[in-house]
Amino acid sequence: MAASLLKGKHFISLQDWSKQEINMALETSGDLKRKFARGEKHRLLDDQTLFMMFFEQSTRTRNSMEAGMTQLGGHAHDLTPDKMQLSHGESAKDTAMVLSRMGHGIACRNCFYGIGNKYLNEMAKWSSVPIMSLQDDFYHPMQGIADLMTIREYFGINTKGLKVTISWAYATSHAKPLSVPQTQLLLFGRYGMDVTVAAPKEFPLKKEIVDTSLINAEKNGGKITFTDDMDAAFEGAQIVIPKNWGGFANFDNFVDDEKHRKEMTNNLQKYKNWICDEKRMKLAAPEVKYMHALPADRGNEVTDAVIDGNSSIIYDEAENRLHTAKAIMALTMGGRR
Ligand code: CP
Repeated sequence: MAASLLKGKHFISLQDWSKQEINMALETSGDLKRKFARGEKHRLLDDQTLFMMFFEQSTRTRNSMEAGMTQLGGHAHDLTPDKMQLSHGESAKDTAMVLSRMGHGIACRNCFYGIGNKYLNEMAKWSSVPIMSLQDDFYHPMQGIADLMTIREYFGINTKGLKVTISWAYATSHAKPLSVPQTQLLLFGRYGMDVTVAAPKEFPLKKEIVDTSLINAEKNGGKITFTDDMDAAFEGAQIVIPKNWGGFANFDNFVDDEKHRKEMTNNLQKYKNWICDEKRMKLAAPEVKYMHALPADRGNEVTDAVIDGNSSIIYDEAENRLHTAKAIMALTMGGRR
């Protein structure tokens, strides 16, 4: 495929990118990672501007994007609602139209359930420059592609049959979005992996996304299994990704009000033993790797012994956020002119 085809393409869900396009992004990520390690300049976006709008907090996404733009020779504006007129109700359309007249890319994190993905798609409808998701209520494509890169670094590019467990885990920090496990589930089946999803019944993933994931897996020789038994899910796993997500999809129409939040909190209290500890890690394959998108809720989602142990590859996974973010920006904002 021609690399230039990706110029101007939005990056809201990896589901909208073909495997050829994702593979191109992964190859570019590897190339940029090697250049970064060698200290070679790679100013592919000289003098370009990226506008980053964060409706929520971020460490990895914010800094991989901003550092990435600097390394690519451009500049990123770190914007939050309090700095922008959207706090006075300015529409997604007007924001996208104006910013796309002034720069070369717009990136946005909006994880409000039932709002975020719609907001990003509304901006994409009007923007003349690529819109990149920095995570929404359904998808986190920047995380998904970094996770795939990390898995391929450890297990090779032939991931067919690789046993991966995506598990819900207890956390007290906050009810985390569904976007990371949903992105992984959609993506890993496309790369032929044998994925087990473990979650208590009150913490399902979104049905439409599960249905699409099953189709993805079937078309690509992957497999997806569901269980509500965390121990069983760990048995023989080569990769475990235990992480909290909120019970948003447990409701037909989740509204962020006191009633729904209270029910989610009550459900959460039933599953304090859903922690990734050494006992569970012993159920997995000897070569098992522990992954987490971070931030991790240490002592609740995972014990220190596991996250700081030999199986943990969390910092490689986090570093790859930089290389993959740069590849996505370079391909969608730059490319052949
Ligand atoms: N994994 C991830 O997106 O981290 P941040 O929330 O810190 O950006």
